[in-house]
Amino acid sequence: MAPRIATVVLGLAALTSAGEAGEVSLGAAAAASGRYFGAALDPDALDEKLYRNLAAAELTSVTPENAMKWEEVEPARGEFHWDEADALVAFAHAHGQKVRGHTLVWHSQLPPWLTQGQFSPRELRDLMVAHIAAEAGRYKGAIYAWDVVNEPFTEDGSWRKSIWYEAMGPGYVAIALRAAHAADPDAKLYVNDYGVETDGPKMRALHDLVAQLKRDGVPIDGVGLQSHFVVGSTPADLPAVMAKFASLGVDVAVTELDLRIRLPAGKPSLLTQADDYAFVVRACRATPRCVGVTTWGITDDRSWIPSFFSGYGAALPFDEAGKPKPAVAAMIEAWTAPGR
Ligand code: XIL
Repeated sequence: MAPRIATVVLGLAALTSAGEAGEVSLGAAAAASGRYFGAALDPDALDEKLYRNLAAAELTSVTPENAMKWEEVEPARGEFHWDEADALVAFAHAHGQKVRGHTLVWHSQLPPWLTQGQFSPRELRDLMVAHIAAEAGRYKGAIYAWDVVNEPFTEDGSWRKSIWYEAMGPGYVAIALRAAHAADPDAKLYVNDYGVETDGPKMRALHDLVAQLKRDGVPIDGVGLQSHFVVGSTPADLPAVMAKFASLGVDVAVTELDLRIRLPAGKPSLLTQADDYAFVVRACRATPRCVGVTTWGITDDRSWIPSFFSGYGAALPFDEAGKPKPAVAAMIEAWTAPGR
């Protein structure tokens, strides 16, 4: 075991410090195990020094929280607004961070011209392919991984009846993946969903889809587990689920991690939250094909949780003032503890 210990020691010695003196950044801690640590970012918030400094210091990957969604980039037909997405990509590259593109084909946050346009199935297919060509093409070479298809299934494992499914049936996924591959052959292409982090009908539906795509030779490189969890209820079988997806020959990533707490958040719940964050990091480390962990935001004041889950909040690793919560030290420990 001596060589492994030597490797770990060397890895730790290479860690850089961030924020307060002596503090190890989350990104550097993840790098010690050969993985990235990322977060979803809002380009408008980068004007705030505290947010910008945290994003620069802690992250080795960036996901646009909304800036690359269809309603943002093409609010009117043929009118493209790339400024915000461009700004995030520029920020990430200036700081040596990867970019996870999010997301090309989804049922939500579509512009009204598209959803209310009364398009024929053939037109919808052409619009989808053209959208992928435009967006993935614009960022060709700049994106580490794309969430090409987001949330294709419902809770019971049936196909979500999105405009894409209604127009093309299940085949829309392969069409989208092939279009993304044509536009940016070097980007890793993902299908991303929530509620697939534990064994159940939805997880099995996604597993079967990826297995089928692989059999058909469709370009699929990874499965994104969104991981929007409630504190104290992380799925115990998360490592097994990751291994099961990985056994199909794809990468896995935790793409939108947050751990919401019923407010007000007391000390015990913050400690449980720290354990839960560490559990997810350990699950990733236990899975050779788990490439990294992304949280859905950095600081609690900018989290989507309070407006989408009434009565919940405090879901992210840093508090409203940008101070690290217990989750930060717990994750650093989980990333760097000796072992795999
Ligand atoms: C959320 C954003 O965080 C919010 O700001 C926005 O209003 C709605 O979308 N799954 C996803 C993300 O894939 O794109 C969603 O992001 C959260 C759930």
